[in-house]
Amino acid sequence: MRNFNETNIITAVIGRLENCRTPRAKVISTALVRHLHDFVREVEPTQAEWEQAIDFLTGTGHMCNATRQEFILLSDALGVSMLVDAINHRLPGTATETTVLGPFYVQHAPEVAIGSRICDLAEGPSMLVEGSVRSVSGKALANASVDIWHADAAGFYDVQKDEAKPSGRARVRTDADGRFWVYGVVPAAYPIPNNGPVGQMLEAQGRHPFRPAHVHFMVAAPSHETLVTHLFLADSDYLDSDVVFGVKDTLIEALDVAQPGITPYGAVVEDAVPVLRRDFVLAESLTQTSR
Ligand code: BEZ
Ligand code: FE
Repeated sequence: MRNFNETNIITAVIGRLENCRTPRAKVISTALVRHLHDFVREVEPTQAEWEQAIDFLTGTGHMCNATRQEFILLSDALGVSMLVDAINHRLPGTATETTVLGPFYVQHAPEVAIGSRICDLAEGPSMLVEGSVRSVSGKALANASVDIWHADAAGFYDVQKDEAKPSGRARVRTDADGRFWVYGVVPAAYPIPNNGPVGQMLEAQGRHPFRPAHVHFMVAAPSHETLVTHLFLADSDYLDSDVVFGVKDTLIEALDVAQPGITPYGAVVEDAVPVLRRDFVLAESLTQTSR
């Protein structure tokens, strides 16, 4: 087949996908070509705009390194990460909802004892983070691993500050009743990294780069789906305009004030302190996990 034009080239390209090595490769390649051609037919880019698009993708690649993944950031800012998350987490109604992982997760965060302080006091006012982990069946999950990471009061993560030791992040294990508590600091809203192509795109789209104040959690227990989520602070700015579309009503929490004494989660409070509290509920999985 020859003499391709704007009408028949789509059929020719899809025809070349006959011998895809797997049925899934065929489904993905066919949809990709169909949507890409539809997009180009709709937009009718000039040659200069097409070159600009190539430069944008090239710049996005060049921005990636061991600690910066500009393609994921692009997916986040275009709502694709949250769409993939939604498709892959059609959980039972009572399970805690998921949201994006984000670029500031660090594998193998230091495992700390319940009750540890995970931030230096210089990083902001103290905040107690306490909660529990249970299964959708209601059973308390002992020894579940709870990764917690959050920005400081100035809106920076430890990995952005080149700190010598991890701060504002830790892994804690739930006690026999499925409870945990640590002391962090009250995090601030912050802009996603915006000194690269994604920042330029947001600027061109007339969008701000901010995320509302939040704390990240990754909660894992054997025989349960690992939960990746955040809790958003109810009084934060940007709850309705999170640059990565990650906010869900069920994940918004107002800070309470814990009074001196022992809380129902077993937390020891010496002076009244803001507290972020949540009972996490994990969906049961068929595949075995061990963390
Ligand atoms: C974060 O919350 O850490 C985050 C998520 C997506 C993009 C950038 C930052
Ligand atoms: Fe974050």
